[in-house]
Amino acid sequence: MKPNEELVDEHLIISRSVSDLASMAKALEKGAIVPAKLLKTELAFIENFVHRCHHRKEEQVLFPVLESLFSLRPHDQVPELLIEHEMSRDILKILVVAVNKYANGDHSQVVKISRSAEAYKTLLIEHMKKENSGVLKMIETDLAADRKLEIMERFSLIEEQLGLNHHNNYVDLANTLHDQSKRLAA
Ligand SMILES: [Fe+2]
Ligand SMILES: [Fe+2]
Repeated sequence: MKPNEELVDEHLIISRSVSDLASMAKALEKGAIVPAKLLKTELAFIENFVHRCHHRKEEQVLFPVLESLFSLRPHDQVPELLIEHEMSRDILKILVVAVNKYANGDHSQVVKISRSAEAYKTLLIEHMKKENSGVLKMIETDLAADRKLEIMERFSLIEEQLGLNHHNNYVDLANTLHDQSKRLAA
């Protein structure tokens, strides 16, 4: 697998999960019974898979490679992508606080949870589309095979640091959460 393919595959998983989060939050706003534990688990997935792993691969490996190779190009996307990572972290923090309060019985948090989940989904889906058609296309077409291999090795190192089977365990969790979210919507 090439680095651009690995990240595009992760984008598919992330895209489905942020949509699941938004639909759980929407169901909650409409009066459905959504267990706080389910929301907390979805947020924990996002924290671990998106922020601790996927964004780390981009921030620590991919973006520095791009900056060193392509920084003189017009329309350098990296600064904008980094700002969007920061924005997504900020929204996630708001969500975690609101869901914790909801878990402790504060139902006034419902609208905040729903709006923040929708904002998080919209931001990340647009962000990933931009990456797929921009920086990841660039990696695919313009980077030499040995550099791609080096990036893959550094991605594997990040996975190893996060623990044995981190990736597969979280993909399984995303699938389970997706099934639970579909049941809520049914
Ligand atoms: Fe990103
Ligand atoms: Fe990404």
